[in-house]
Amino acid sequence: MGRINFCAAPLFLLLLSTSSLVVMVVESAIGVNWGTISSDRLAPSIVVNLLKENNITKVKLFDVDPQALSALRGTDIEVMVGIENQMLSILSTSPDVADSWITQNVSTYMTKGGVNIRYIAVGNEPFLTSFEGKLQTLVVPSLLNLQKALEKANLANLIKLVVPCNADAYESTVPSEGAFRPELTQIMTDLASFLNSTGSPFLVNIYPFLSLYQNSDFPQDFAFFNGTTHPLTDGPNVYSNAFDGNLDTLAAALDKVGYGQLPIVVGEIGWPTDGAPNANLNAASAFNQGLINHILSNKGTPMRPGVPPMDVYLFGLLDENAKSVLPGNFERHWGIFSFDGQAKYPLKLGLDSGPLKNATDVQHLPSSWCVVNPSKDISLMSKQFEFACSTVADCTALEDGGSCSGIGGKGNISYAFNGYYQQQKQDPRSCDFDGFGMITNVDPSVGDCRFPVGISVKSTFSPIKIEDKSSGSPSRGNNLGFRIRLDYFASWVVLLWVSLFL
Ligand SMILES: *[C@@H]1O[C@H](CO)[C@@H](O)[C@H](O)[C@H]1NC(C)=O
Ligand SMILES: *[C@@H]1O[C@H](CO)[C@@H](O)[C@H](O)[C@H]1NC(C)=O
Ligand SMILES: *[C@@H]1O[C@H](CO)[C@@H](O)[C@H](O)[C@H]1NC(C)=O
Ligand SMILES: *[C@@H]1O[C@H](CO)[C@@H](O)[C@H](O)[C@H]1NC(C)=O
Ligand SMILES: *[C@@H]1O[C@H](CO)[C@@H](O)[C@H](O)[C@H]1NC(C)=O
Ligand SMILES: *[C@@H]1O[C@H](CO)[C@@H](O)[C@H](O)[C@H]1NC(C)=O
Repeated sequence: MGRINFCAAPLFLLLLSTSSLVVMVVESAIGVNWGTISSDRLAPSIVVNLLKENNITKVKLFDVDPQALSALRGTDIEVMVGIENQMLSILSTSPDVADSWITQNVSTYMTKGGVNIRYIAVGNEPFLTSFEGKLQTLVVPSLLNLQKALEKANLANLIKLVVPCNADAYESTVPSEGAFRPELTQIMTDLASFLNSTGSPFLVNIYPFLSLYQNSDFPQDFAFFNGTTHPLTDGPNVYSNAFDGNLDTLAAALDKVGYGQLPIVVGEIGWPTDGAPNANLNAASAFNQGLINHILSNKGTPMRPGVPPMDVYLFGLLDENAKSVLPGNFERHWGIFSFDGQAKYPLKLGLDSGPLKNATDVQHLPSSWCVVNPSKDISLMSKQFEFACSTVADCTALEDGGSCSGIGGKGNISYAFNGYYQQQKQDPRSCDFDGFGMITNVDPSVGDCRFPVGISVKSTFSPIKIEDKSSGSPSRGNNLGFRIRLDYFASWVVLLWVSLFL
């Protein structure tokens, strides 16, 4: 019994009283990533209600946003907060800074009726090759300082430290030969040893979508969970989806450093709905539902049969319209909900769950749109179009593969004008565009191309800070997009399929 860690959240202990047999049933939970790089942020209280309405019991934040945490006060929702990469340098060298970080950013919330903080993510993907090794040596020293701080604060048995790791930390041609990148071997050994000693899981971010996006040779059905015409055979093990292959590559890599039994949590996984040829509602729905059903079936993987990841955090909860599009236009479309909390497709997060419920308490602006004045010559509007798209309008749906890529030149400009107008809360002056714009009450949406209506100031997180565009560090980074994009090329699945097909 002493070995069973009751703090490891998803372990439910079933005591069979008649036989006094102890059976441990691992029950994975589906959580969500709540990223906030958006110029149209829903008020945190609305987001927390949305989580509750959908019985979402685990949420992962990328920072320690006081507004988000205060909205989570008094709920049972298990929270993972994040420490930005730029903090690692000081946290790794200063126990005092670690102490005050825990005191100010964690202890304050750990009161009765406070926030149920269970994990602290230390850094975000610090082992990415694009960081050129600058962060990786800071990770374990930071963990040690923070762990001591947690102990001092009497929180060490409640809160676990984890490190979100991109799948580019390991590689292989087949899962059973998975190994961490050679320069990470010692660091990963130390990290795994630390995690094992504190009863913490290994956190990994897995994106089959990016493998498909980056490589046209990648067999599409291998990204999903409905079987494949290109299974991967690895000795006695047959893989029919990229996810299992990726997880087992990690399991093998952990085994090589001596911690083959370390529990794994998927920190980020998901599928975008717009902004690329394979990014659409059907594909996102098939991937996410297939993933959830696969996890909750408790099948596990060939190397860890019956042991699915402890927890899986979908990326993401809401669309974030101010994310950098350097990795691709899809970046702003990862949400299972649109920016205003409307379910994009009827996803079921649990075996007995109903489909996602929409946020109920969101106030939209009136049914009013800004479009091109039909009596004007669109060839004169490129400056205004550029202005709208380069400031606050999200024009990613207009690009190749986007849901609005087929609406023509006039449609294009209307879409951009409308995006700007909604962001300005339908201020009539914002639809002027030197006389080229026109306000209408007729919804200009065509087919799958939706012209959004904004949300009222009341429903919005305030103040709106557009200059926050490059702050925070949600997945794929903000300012490192281009290089990170190359990193995805090097990720396991791509190497694997390049080696098999080329
Ligand atoms: C609390 O966290 C924020 C955001 O990461 C950071 O800026 C601040 O310095 C932290 N507080 C302390 C005392 O370290
Ligand atoms: C992991 O931790 C457990 C419990 O603390 C310990 O018994 C085990 O030896 C550790 N594993 C390794 C490989 O050190
Ligand atoms: C995948 O299989 C499930 C059940 O077997 C089925 O309901 C679903 O429609 C399939 N999805 C796709 C995209 O083929
Ligand atoms: C959620 O909102 C979307 C978009 O407004 C709508 O199409 C859908 O029917 C709503 N879903 C539910 C369950 O009400
Ligand atoms: C959440 O749980 C409640 C109570 O079990 C249930 O009635 C409701 O349908 C669930 N919501 C969803 C979206 O499954
Ligand atoms: C619409 O705008 C997109 C993005 O700027 C561009 O790629 C596309 O060619 C435009 N279409 C037309 C018909 O102008």
